[in-house]
Amino acid sequence: EIGTLVPSSSLQMICAILAMEPIDAVICFARDFGGGSITENVQSFILENCIRTADTQFQGAYLKRLLKKLISEIEYCGGVVLDELYEQYASHMIGLNDWDHCSNGNSKVLKKISFIYPGSSCLDSCGYISSCFGFKKFNVQLMCSTNMLEGDTGCCIWPSSLFMSEFILSHPEIFASKCCFELGSGVGLVGVCLSHVKASKVILSDGDLQTLANMKCNLELNDVKHVHYLHLPWEEESTSENHLRLHGLKPDVILGADIIYDPLCVPHLVKLLAAVLNRDGHWPGRNPVAYVASVIRNVETFDCFVSVAERSGGLSIEDITGKNRVLNFLPYLRSYQRCAVRMMKICYKS
Ligand SMILES: C[S@@+](CC[C@H](N)C(=O)[O-])C[C@H]1O[C@@H](n2cnc3c(N)ncnc32)[C@H](O)[C@@H]1O
Repeated sequence: EIGTLVPSSSLQMICAILAMEPIDAVICFARDFGGGSITENVQSFILENCIRTADTQFQGAYLKRLLKKLISEIEYCGGVVLDELYEQYASHMIGLNDWDHCSNGNSKVLKKISFIYPGSSCLDSCGYISSCFGFKKFNVQLMCSTNMLEGDTGCCIWPSSLFMSEFILSHPEIFASKCCFELGSGVGLVGVCLSHVKASKVILSDGDLQTLANMKCNLELNDVKHVHYLHLPWEEESTSENHLRLHGLKPDVILGADIIYDPLCVPHLVKLLAAVLNRDGHWPGRNPVAYVASVIRNVETFDCFVSVAERSGGLSIEDITGKNRVLNFLPYLRSYQRCAVRMMKICYKS
């Protein structure tokens, strides 16, 4: 999809609203777009591109908060609020009150993540977007939970999967025409990106059944077909029959985003990685390679993973974060701290 030629701040503002970014970040984009204030033009643009076309059930609560903040911000600055902004706010208030009260912290929201492909002339030397025109977008829609813990943490989008997605889109050659197998796939964003860059086979897995069901829904929502889904709790995969089953998948590339955080899971995860990374003569060709993206929240857990992987798993781990350039496709996602994510390349030491 080729984006229309709009100034960068308006494109970023719309993308931020559709991705349900924090309201304050959206207000900043709206002010930038209006040259310092939220003008009537800016309001019309938001109404046309986000509010009128919204899915009330899954975006309504967010839009209600956005409308409230927009109106109070404009009034506070002595600006003119469009009548339709008041009307939309009123209809969201009436329509959503019951729904708001019923939600028990596990409500579903629909986030639209737009990967903005800049033309090469739009990039500065660090890979950041520096110009306003000529964008191409790749849009992914994801049903997520507002509760970070739902589905064993697998029903919301974590920064590592955003970074993994940017990595895939920056280096499609690593994944195109390859059989790609993801562990702990969560909402399925990485799977959609793998299909976008034409992986020959996409296998997604998770240990949580609720997460797996939501993931499947998301792949269908994005019209991604021919994906294989596996219920794969790492703890139950250490038997040799299960390893044989995994060898049968014949993966070329293994992926994992934000899967190293629970010290109790580390030995099981390492065993599983070691089993799938070593073809051990089960099928011809070179051993697969794994890419694992992580936010290192607890250094001890991460160090434990590295030492168990290297000593017991016979794996080699290389930090390639600074080595393989990853383009910034998500400049409007102010809540995403991409510099906190590390990318590891993991291989079997033969
Ligand atoms: C922090 S979430 C990351 C989800 C997704 N990869 C992302 O980055 O957005 C961790 C994921 O790993 C899965 N997971 C955690 N422990 C697991 C285990 N022992 N076996 C299988 N999957 C597990 C969770 O269900 C969840 O989907």
